[in-house]
Amino acid sequence: MNIGIDAISFYTPEIAINLRDLAKKRGVDPDKYTIGIGQDIQAVIPISQDAVSMAANAAELILVKKDKEYVDSIDAIYFASESGVDDSKSGAVIIQKLLNLPGNIRTIEMKQACYSGTFGLMSAFNYVATNPEKRVLVIASDIARYGLNSAGEVTQGAGAIAMIVSANPQIAKYNFDSVYMSEDLNDFWRPLYSDTAFVDGKYSQEVYKEFFLKLWNRFDRKLDSFENFAFHLPFSKMGNKALEQILNDENKTSWNEKLEIAKKYSRLVGNLYTGSLYLAFLSILENDDLNSGDEIAMFSYGSGAEAELYSFTLEVEYKKGILGDTQSLLNDRKIISVETYEEIFSSQNLDGHNQNMENEFDKATFQLREIKDNLRIYR
Ligand code: HMG
Repeated sequence: MNIGIDAISFYTPEIAINLRDLAKKRGVDPDKYTIGIGQDIQAVIPISQDAVSMAANAAELILVKKDKEYVDSIDAIYFASESGVDDSKSGAVIIQKLLNLPGNIRTIEMKQACYSGTFGLMSAFNYVATNPEKRVLVIASDIARYGLNSAGEVTQGAGAIAMIVSANPQIAKYNFDSVYMSEDLNDFWRPLYSDTAFVDGKYSQEVYKEFFLKLWNRFDRKLDSFENFAFHLPFSKMGNKALEQILNDENKTSWNEKLEIAKKYSRLVGNLYTGSLYLAFLSILENDDLNSGDEIAMFSYGSGAEAELYSFTLEVEYKKGILGDTQSLLNDRKIISVETYEEIFSSQNLDGHNQNMENEFDKATFQLREIKDNLRIYR
């Protein structure tokens, strides 16, 4: 029995900044951002979006296209995030209500920096292996937030990827070939009292590269047996830095071209933390010239640190499993000024005071409408 990803969809907010404008404002050569870091446009998060509302917006794109029988077979929501809105209650149970899913399902939130989306998928693959008639909704949703004028500012971003895991999947089967590792390291972390991440930027890149190389050496596959390679992309150049460790003179040019395809959407959105790897996967699915049976390698990395390397094999009509219109979503965004971005960034309600969240920048179906008496009220 094949088990894998049956459907995928993506949501990112409707406003963004051009990183050339940000470079100008910060007194930095724009080429540092667009070439050195490899980012062009960055998502900006209106005060009415958070990890929960973004997750519901991504999942809705799948659910509205599916019939009742399909929706009724969803047996669990695995919500992967490091931008959770409550230290006790799972965001998944709020998502269940927003999406109008029935009560007799499991809901859980999981965290391990950018890695937990992959853990969600792996848990779902294993669940479906013993419950083949069931489906699992896995959603990776995050806001990457480092702070105005910080070194990490250029690597911020936000968005959510929703995926349905099932038997006989439409998009790709998991090859049950994972190699993984974890180690207690301090490359990036966010204590409970902080709304921005702490990071040792140079060290984090070294750990990422080292984990990739270690896992690649254990993976026991030839690079050229894969059609493309999706990396967790905290910024798009990170994929090149990891992959170049295993390239040679013969395959360097062709692999750098493949990587451009994988990086296309990430360059236009920024870091989604848990969702970044799956945005790269979506970019490959939508922009590469692929055939059924082609294999895609996947490298998942989460600071702190944990990593996993595995692969998918594409199914015949894989494009039919991609729901939502990524190109329109990205093209239709409004590019706002750096000054407006700074105002929005500074006005995020991080202490939970009573506030109406209505604003001119958000037309999404699901929004955080109000914080009242320490409760978050969504519509
Ligand atoms: P920085 O220190 O300002 O940048 O911050 P830099 O000086 O290292 O320059 C960046 C690159 O631009 C360099 O290239 C420069 O040479 C180049 P490299 O040597 O790295 O190849 N450059 C130029 N290129 C063209 N024209 C120019 C120019 N000037 C310089 N004029 C840093 C960069 C990424 C460290 C910072 O943004 C940061 O700390 N970001 C956050 C941390 C991060 O993303 N780490 C990645 C690995 S960890 C990870 O992936 C996990 C994570 O997603 C979190 C999680 O798991 O939850 C972050």
